[in-house]
Amino acid sequence: MARIISGTEISRTIRAEVAAEVALLRGEGTVPGLAVVLVGADPASEVYVRMKAKACREAGMQDRTLKLPAEVTADELFGVIDGLNADPGIHGILLQLPLPAHLNPKPFLERIHPAKDVDGFHPLNVGRAFIGDPRGFVPATPAGIMEILRREAIPTHGRHAVIVGRSLIVSKPLMSLLMAPGPNAGVTLVHRHTPDIAPHTRMADILVVAVGKPGLITADMVKPGATVIDVGTTRVADEADPRGYRIVGDVDFDAVSEVAGAITPVPGGVGPMTITMLLRNTVDAAKRAHTRERRGGARRSTRR
Ligand code: GUN
Repeated sequence: MARIISGTEISRTIRAEVAAEVALLRGEGTVPGLAVVLVGADPASEVYVRMKAKACREAGMQDRTLKLPAEVTADELFGVIDGLNADPGIHGILLQLPLPAHLNPKPFLERIHPAKDVDGFHPLNVGRAFIGDPRGFVPATPAGIMEILRREAIPTHGRHAVIVGRSLIVSKPLMSLLMAPGPNAGVTLVHRHTPDIAPHTRMADILVVAVGKPGLITADMVKPGATVIDVGTTRVADEADPRGYRIVGDVDFDAVSEVAGAITPVPGGVGPMTITMLLRNTVDAAKRAHTRERRGGARRSTRR
């Protein structure tokens, strides 16, 4: 029977670490600030945005949520991002996705200053993550998965990680992180055009599934003793739940738990880690801004 990895517990530990760093920064005059820009009224996005704002406040950080109407023009949205880029009280900027259909997210994600891009979606940060440059920001979900592996002492060195899915937000950066010097894993990535994923998933010491298809991974697709990380979050109708739905992952949890060595549940696995790592990135952004400010101040005072 697999050990169930609690992302909720790991998150709690990291959030306490983050809050301690926030307290230190506040003592030195910097309050880490995160701005979340929400365009339109997608119900799932509204829930996420509220959760992010609450997590910020609980960590002692400043949160600013900017809600824009779905009909906002591209120029107006560029203007909002430019304003946040120039605001010294804001260290992290997150443009909540998806945007309404008439807005292509790419130019807006590229407009966010890379030093404030705590989502890690700007091409400069995507490139930095790929080459292992620590000045960048790694997207929250793959960063959270690496923290889970590290804090649960799951060996990666020389192990075979198989990632199912090819998204820019989860799978591609995770591939870079797992194979980098340090973790030293070998990585196979398969996706919707791989005719049969089972021969690959069965070889995984660490199986990461980030597709959004409930029930995709069955017990016969998992090597006995493997670590299974389920990134899927799909809403399925559930009359027994007061919300009318519940969230399920990509893994047949009950059956796979009988085979795997360790497994993340949905909910309560990877999910809580994403907001936690967003806070982590925002505090890192604030620390870097704080250091730049001090260096600039020191230079100014020596010049005088
Ligand atoms: N929508 C759902 N998850 C995310 C996320 O991590 N970042 C952004 N910007 N939008 C999202």
